[in-house]
Amino acid sequence: MRIIVLKDRKAVCAAAAKRVAVFVEKDKRAVLGLATGGTMTGVYEILADKYRRGSLNFSHVTSFNLDEYCGLAQGHKCGYNYYMYHNFFRHINIREKNRHIPPASGKNSGDACAAYEKKIRRAGGIGLQLLGIGTNGHIAFNEPGSSFCSRTRRVKLAEETLKSNSRYFPRCAKLPCYAVTMGIGTILEAGELLLLACGNKKAAAVEAAVKGPVTTDMPASILQLHPKATLILDRQAAGKLKTHNWKF
Ligand code: GLP
Repeated sequence: MRIIVLKDRKAVCAAAAKRVAVFVEKDKRAVLGLATGGTMTGVYEILADKYRRGSLNFSHVTSFNLDEYCGLAQGHKCGYNYYMYHNFFRHINIREKNRHIPPASGKNSGDACAAYEKKIRRAGGIGLQLLGIGTNGHIAFNEPGSSFCSRTRRVKLAEETLKSNSRYFPRCAKLPCYAVTMGIGTILEAGELLLLACGNKKAAAVEAAVKGPVTTDMPASILQLHPKATLILDRQAAGKLKTHNWKF
């Protein structure tokens, strides 16, 4: 597990965007795993800017998102379909047929989740996977207690997640309690993992994920066992690590 500590969120997003850009440039069939959340918007802004300037092309890229809320109407402004389209897809030239978001509408049957997994495999597997982290250590929507072997499936969101993500649902009476998420087993199959964390609210989860035991109580701790996992943290998120000498 490589750990990079940078000054602030701007620097974290710039470093992550740089890694994604190199991956997209080098890999002729780049398969990207994408994440949502407040931390990631800065990464997408930088990548979109690179595309606008003509220095980055996404026409050969296939993407798979980590998760989506269940039960939201099509195009709902708080959903991750909307988030991805508005923050990223509409600004770049990734083909519509090549972008994928977990199947959270309809009955969320096991079949649709299995089909999502199959699409990932057919695309050749995810080369580079972006990840955020929840204050409870979740990755994607794999809440504490999720099996390290889990695959794409419907899950119930933890109370802590509902509380912390309610800030993204200003006008909605109720945040969905369920979501469809890639499993931890699915995520671990990606060639490279890039987890971003900013702000002191993430410091305790980051400390437990990096220094604590590898346990399903702290889903992000499994990154300790991935052969190519990098954490890019701002100083606040790294505040409990007492190691500020890692550099990009
Ligand atoms: C949501 C997503 C997670 C993400 C987390 C972090 O819960 N499902 O995949 O890691 O948000 O969000 P933020 O960057 O807003 O703190």
